[in-house]
Order: sequence, then structure tokens, then C-alpha cells
Amino acid sequence: MKTRVALVYGGRSGEHEISLRSAESVIAAMNPDRYEIVKFLIDKEGHWSPSPIQPEPGANPGIDVVFPVLHGTFGEDGTMQGLFELADLPYVGANVLASSLSMDKDVMKRVCREQGLPVVDWIVMERDANGVVAEEAAARLPFPIFVKPANLGSSVGISKAHDLEELRAALKTAAEFDRKIVVERGIEGREFECAVLGNEHPAAAVPCEILPSREFYDYEDKYELNLARTELPANLPPAEIEEMRRLAVECFKAVGCEGMGRVDFLRETSTGKLYINEINTIPGFTSISMYPKMWEYTGIPYTELIDRLIEMALERHEQKKATRFTR
Ligand SMILES: Nc1ncnc2c1ncn2[C@@H]1O[C@H](COP(=O)(O)OP(=O)(O)O)[C@@H](O)[C@H]1O
Ligand SMILES: [Mg+2]
Repeated sequence: MKTRVALVYGGRSGEHEISLRSAESVIAAMNPDRYEIVKFLIDKEGHWSPSPIQPEPGANPGIDVVFPVLHGTFGEDGTMQGLFELADLPYVGANVLASSLSMDKDVMKRVCREQGLPVVDWIVMERDANGVVAEEAAARLPFPIFVKPANLGSSVGISKAHDLEELRAALKTAAEFDRKIVVERGIEGREFECAVLGNEHPAAAVPCEILPSREFYDYEDKYELNLARTELPANLPPAEIEEMRRLAVECFKAVGCEGMGRVDFLRETSTGKLYINEINTIPGFTSISMYPKMWEYTGIPYTELIDRLIEMALERHEQKKATRFTR
């Protein structure tokens, strides 16, 4: 009997198109002797076709396991995972809490800091940002300063401010995308990514370096220009590579991630210090995405990576059966 995998993709998110590409690659790589693929496409307005997954246990008899290939809002942020929990369906990747807290750039940093993990200095501001708060931020952090909507991805709404005037504009831009704004110290240095895989005993792949073609890895650089370069394996001394892999696993555990996660780092040139920038619980999964590439380099080919993720989803669901929900 083949395992029936519901592939949920698209979504009400700025990363809708990336999700389509990720899903295409996942479908192409899935072993047809092993899996039957049931597709659920969600359009940009949030409508499902052919039909939605039903939120009741037993109401989706055609599905053995769900693979959400959704990035960003309403897919990677715990909302979709909540539906799978209600439906009592096994699903690939992080649970509700890990998904939503990893999506929030403020909460994620707080959880990491609590574990003693290195994150950059940041402050949180509310939407009604006016000139006065720009001055307040400037008084508390040195320039350059990064301004980000707390709950988004793909660098949307993110700016790098070099002075007070740019900071005002940056706050205004970020405020269009979220009520909560994260303002942080800019790190002058290099950028790395490290793939993590596993449930109870997660392991990290060999990391890669991202070499943006612009001042930072912004939306154009990620998806339009095609000029950013990557270096795999990352060109760093072995001790630093090991430290990065250790921190990636620690971060994955700290947020309670399961299945997969890509931990992104900033390395300050002047001090050589590594900072965890963020964790993505549904990293890009296109055939040229770094998450599968890092695993391929580390010894797990794409097709096997998908097998393992699905196995882990089923395993976790099985383990949950031992939990009582009522007395
Ligand atoms: N504190 C920082 N210092 C230096 N560069 C940063 C900092 N924060 C973000 N960046 C740059 O901005 C990019 C996008 O920021 P990130 O926090 O990763 O948001 P997203 O979730 O949209 O990917 C990063 O890949 C990096 O190039
Ligand atoms: Mg990022």
C-alpha cells in the first residue's frame, strides 16, 4: 500500500510563488512507488482547491500524512499546523507552538536568549511609530540599524538604516506590514545558513555561506536578481563550522522545532562572533534551495530527505497516541 501524502502548497502569503516552486520540486522528487500524492493548492486569497482539509478527526480518510510546503503567513506560522492537529493528521515539520514562535522575530530571539544562545541586540516598537520613537531607537542602538516587521519573511518590509532619516522611513515601511516592529543592531560581516533535521535527536548539515549581491540579502536579491551567490561548504575554519552546527541544533531544540529547520547566522567580522539571526521552520524546498542542497552535500539525497521527513511525521503522530487528552 502506498502512503497517501497530502501536499498543501501555495497559500495566503508573500511567498506564494516560492511555495509553488518548492512543491513542484518536492513532487518531482517523491518516489512514485512509495507515495500517492494528493494535491491541495491554496490560492493567494486563501481558497483551497479542489477542497479543504476537514478539521475533524477521521474526516479525511484519503490522507495518511500531510506535507505542508507553505512558506510564511498562514502556512509556516502555526495556523495551518493547528488545522492538522484538529484533524488528528500526521504532518511534516514543526508543531503549532514552534512554528508560531519561530515566525516572530522578537519571541524567537527571547527564547534563544533564555537558553544563552547568541542573538543580536534588539528592541521592539509598536506600530504608531513617529519621529520621537525613531530617536529613541537611535539612542539605544548604534547605526546601521535593521528594521523588520516582526512576523514576515522573504525580507519583505525590512530596511537597513544608516542615519536617523533612514530610520524614520524604515519604521514607517515596517509598520505597514506588522503592528510589532523589531529594531536591531546591524552586524557588519558574513551570512551563513545551516540545515537541521530530526525529532528528538536533531543533527545539523554542513553549513553554507550566502553572498548577497546587494547591501543585504533583500527581496530582490532573494527572488529577482539571481545574482546572490552561495558557497557550500562554507569557507570557515573547522572549529567555527562545528560551532555553527552546534548552535543550529541548540536553536532548533530551544524553539521546540521538529522535522526540519534552517538556522541562519550572521558572523561579525570585527569580533569573529557568531549570532543566530533566525530559524525557518519550512525552509525553501526548490531543487536549488539551500536546505536540500546542504543535506545532499552532507550525504542525504533529496528523495531520501523527503522519505525521512514523512517517516518522522508518522513517528511523532504515533508517539502522540500515548498522550491522554481527557482524564
Ligand atoms: N542584524 C542584522 N545585521 C546585518 N544584516 C541583517 C540583520 N538582520 C537582517 N539582516 C539582513 O537582512 C536579511 C533578511 O533578514 P531576516 O531577519 O533574515 O528576515 P527574513 O525572515 O525576511 O528572511 C538577512 O538575510 C540579512 O542579509
Ligand atoms: Mg532570513
